[in-house]
Amino acid sequence: MASYQGVLEHYKGLFDLPAHTRPVTLLEGNTPLIPARRLAEQLGGGFELFVKFEGLNPTGSFKDRGMTAAVSEAYGREARTVICASTGNTAASAAAYAARAGMRAVVLIPQGKVAAGKLAGALAYGAQVIQVDGSFDDALSLVVQLTQKSPICLVNSLNPYRIEGQKSAAFEICDVLGSAPDWLCLPVGNAGNITAYWAGFKQYDNLKSSGLPQVLGVQAEGAAPLVLGHPVDKPETVATAIRIGRPARGEQALQTAEESHGRIIAVSDKEILGMQRELARLEGIWVEPASAAGLAGLAHEIGAGRLAAKGRRIVAVCTGHGLKDPDIITKEMTRPLVMPPRLDALEEVIL
Ligand code: F0G
Repeated sequence: MASYQGVLEHYKGLFDLPAHTRPVTLLEGNTPLIPARRLAEQLGGGFELFVKFEGLNPTGSFKDRGMTAAVSEAYGREARTVICASTGNTAASAAAYAARAGMRAVVLIPQGKVAAGKLAGALAYGAQVIQVDGSFDDALSLVVQLTQKSPICLVNSLNPYRIEGQKSAAFEICDVLGSAPDWLCLPVGNAGNITAYWAGFKQYDNLKSSGLPQVLGVQAEGAAPLVLGHPVDKPETVATAIRIGRPARGEQALQTAEESHGRIIAVSDKEILGMQRELARLEGIWVEPASAAGLAGLAHEIGAGRLAAKGRRIVAVCTGHGLKDPDIITKEMTRPLVMPPRLDALEEVIL
């Protein structure tokens, strides 16, 4: 049996990539679709809930699907350097795939607003990391301007090949379920992911009549330009991954919501952190804060009576691993008890 060789090989023929593309892969994708029965019960029950756990990709986030495509295209035409602006996950992913291709990676991040596991990843993979005294949106504007006048390859999701590779997540969901779910819930930041899912579901529906989901895109209240209807100059949220005020693919996100008969909503940081905790405690799935936003949005809508979940099949995309942002947990926790190394002391504590 041929072994799994990553998303580009597995779904060969379904991506619109130039002929010069030469695969650079870390065997990304093929992530589990985990049933979340206890959480579904907590949300009222009577429906099927699955978590697409994208934190199990090689660099710990969904970005690897699109990055394998973008870097493979750049590598195939012998580009030397890739660059991106990032709230952290894109940076780590770009750095890893560039390393694998023997290319240079430059990543611009908003100063002081990137979770420890992401920054560490980008550094470990050998990227040149530059902090911008500004927001993600400022950093993105800089790399877009730079790449318009230099041969450096932009690997943000404005790069169309990122969207191509990212479609694989929708294909996988349809393959596992046998059709598209009724609802797809996911966080929205720069809006590349929601754009790619919708493109992927539409493509699979044309090919295999797999149907289309309604899409619930979820932003954080302090960074919700698509809900407010205008850019946010100073976005703020504990979910730093989606701390974005001018989403590059905002129009496409709104179009997805409309075409799918879904919507884009905002939830509070409290709802996001509450869902992060519930998901870990009820299901054993630890995701980073932004990744819990899709589920927090689902809970929000069910709670407000705006989403009839009964009898439905719902997939929530959890985009990044909890290990990316350990500080969010450890800074809130009570320090674990310290005891002497004696059995009687242990018995006293736990029995
Ligand atoms: N979840 C996580 C964990 C992310 O890192 C991101 C985006 C999103 C959701 C939102 O996805 O931008 O396609 O709407 N992170 C980007 C980055 C911005 O630089 O890593 P989106």
